[in-house]
Amino acid sequence: MRLRLGVLISGRGSNLQALIDAATDPAYPAEVALVISNKADAPGLERARAAGIATLVLKPKDFADKAAHEAAMTAALESAGVGLVCLAGYMRLLSPVFVSAWLDRLINIHPSLLPSFPGLHTHERAIEAGVRFHGCTVHFVRVEMDTGPIIVQAAVPVADGATPDSLAARVLEQEHKAYPLAVRLIAEGRVTVAGDRAVVARGAVPDAVIAPIA
Ligand code: GAR
Repeated sequence: MRLRLGVLISGRGSNLQALIDAATDPAYPAEVALVISNKADAPGLERARAAGIATLVLKPKDFADKAAHEAAMTAALESAGVGLVCLAGYMRLLSPVFVSAWLDRLINIHPSLLPSFPGLHTHERAIEAGVRFHGCTVHFVRVEMDTGPIIVQAAVPVADGATPDSLAARVLEQEHKAYPLAVRLIAEGRVTVAGDRAVVARGAVPDAVIAPIA
């Protein structure tokens, strides 16, 4: 049976789309079972509906507190038989209770080469810092924001004259490859967590795919 994914979104959902597209291949070892958004107008919800995937809107303000909101998310994910939760542009911090409930079954994609540039406005900050390479990271989630064992990274060179928008577009193209790759590696049982590091059994996966440089 394919690994069932629960994808949490807040907006556009292009990374969700990358996972939906990957799963159209019957040989892909995972499928999106449920999409949860904290915003009713997140455009990503339409992507899920168009693919016939169950969606759920859980707005924090409809719950007594953060614990109740997250408990509702966990209940919905469990009843959908989700084995891996994927944050895909989910712009709310998760509590230690939620993170430990899903420990090592909860991953995030972040638009920088972590541990550089956690937080927001990563592309602007990369340009300001003058780094020559920027990129994206898929990692297991820990309580501190944008930390946790790194599964896949992809790097892109920062061109002279790059703007935040041009750099974001180059990184996003890599995000759409890195996220399905990370999910596939986990679903195939190739990823183990050892302390602060994730170890990937490369097998048939070439090094160049683990860290492609565009
Ligand atoms: C992506 O670039 C993702 O890496 C970023 O938000 C965007 C969501 O786009 N996530 C974060 O900044 C989380 N810290 P999408 O909705 O089109 O997938």
